[in-house]
Amino acid sequence: MSVRGIRLVGDGLLVPCLDGNERPYVNLDAAASTGALPEVATAVEEFLPWYSSVHRGTGFKSQRSTAAHESAREAILDFAGRSSTDDIAILCRNTTEAINHLAYRMRLDPEDTVLTTVVEHHANLLPWGRVARRRFIECDAAGTFTAAEVRAALEISPRPKLLAITGASNVSGWLPEIEEIISIAHQFGVPVLVDAAQLAPHRSLPRSADFLVFSGHKMYAPYGAGVLIGPREFFREGDPFLAGGGAVELVDLDEVVWNEPPDREEAGSPNVVGAVALGAAARFLQSIGMGAIRAHDDELAAQLRGGIAEIPGLRLLGPALATDTLPVATFVVEGMPHALVAARLSAEFGIGVRNGCFCAHPYLVRLLGLSDAAVERFRHDARNHLRANLPGAVRASTGISTTPDEVETFLRSLRTIAHSTSTPIAYKMDPITGEYWPAELDRPDAAISANSVCSAN
Ligand code: ALA
Repeated sequence: MSVRGIRLVGDGLLVPCLDGNERPYVNLDAAASTGALPEVATAVEEFLPWYSSVHRGTGFKSQRSTAAHESAREAILDFAGRSSTDDIAILCRNTTEAINHLAYRMRLDPEDTVLTTVVEHHANLLPWGRVARRRFIECDAAGTFTAAEVRAALEISPRPKLLAITGASNVSGWLPEIEEIISIAHQFGVPVLVDAAQLAPHRSLPRSADFLVFSGHKMYAPYGAGVLIGPREFFREGDPFLAGGGAVELVDLDEVVWNEPPDREEAGSPNVVGAVALGAAARFLQSIGMGAIRAHDDELAAQLRGGIAEIPGLRLLGPALATDTLPVATFVVEGMPHALVAARLSAEFGIGVRNGCFCAHPYLVRLLGLSDAAVERFRHDARNHLRANLPGAVRASTGISTTPDEVETFLRSLRTIAHSTSTPIAYKMDPITGEYWPAELDRPDAAISANSVCSAN
């Protein structure tokens, strides 16, 4: 099947621009969150009349709801190339929650080591710092590392209890050689968590990863569900992350018998609507085929990244153009604040991108090549919540419904911005958030600073 012609709910909506015209919104922020597939919205609509309690009701609607929840779980496992014989899919809110869940369940000793990388977004950095010592695989100036460097990091004593690594960078779109890296880690007896938040909507998921996490809101199912996939056996022992109803076989005042996984890991009433949505997205992406999605992505990645690289005054961050990446491009316009570039794209051209550090501070610092003094300034400002001069970049990223015409509109707009010696109207900066907006407009309530808020994953 071809990807061409797929539209998302909300595609084509008109948004007001500064010249008084309305333009179809160009959403180049798929790496942060995507709109819903119509097939996902339909699945949710069809399910809603049947919505009822899951795993705790005998009525017909409860049975239908339970069946829908479990069928979604199967679809998600299938999408990940897993079967429920060996693995379970724990439905949770998103990648961040899934990694926190695993960090709790690993029952690490604070002296244990988790090997991770400086390429990770915060969701795959912070939970590990809470429960163990972290060892980091460094990246080069292009934001990449090799499988050999992973091997070298695994050879250092003590042996890590886990390798927690991204399947694709949310900033540069770079794809580590994940299958090879997993195979190396397994030679050392080290299990691997692959953070597939970015990978899942774009590429087949690595079969050999011990644990996988991804989010519905990045794969066309923005109904609040994400998933942690891992071996059934692993979750048979130990306390679950959340304690409560549904996770238990028996509760007495002095005794608890936990349920079998996955129920043991899903205390409380589950987000069955989110699960139905995520299951529907998984089925749809599989029916399209990851090969067709990749062909679409490759075309847009070449157009987007190649187009940016050709504009004088712009610096594309991350690996060289010839490198295989997701359709993600992060760049700076020399001499212009990243927040102003993003504000102008929105206000003057109706284009949505993200700017800032993309919840990946260590990686951004490296990609930008900040000096020690600049990093120290960044730390000082962040400690004091001074957001006016935070370093950062602008990111454009495409999804399944993005068209070459939209990318061309973006590149044309970017050329106008890069070539301008002044802005067509004055922009004001909010010194609290660091965000810019046209001085003549009241700031819309919706314009909460993308720079100050780290979106969930
Ligand atoms: N991973 C989220 C993003 O890239 C934070 O926008």
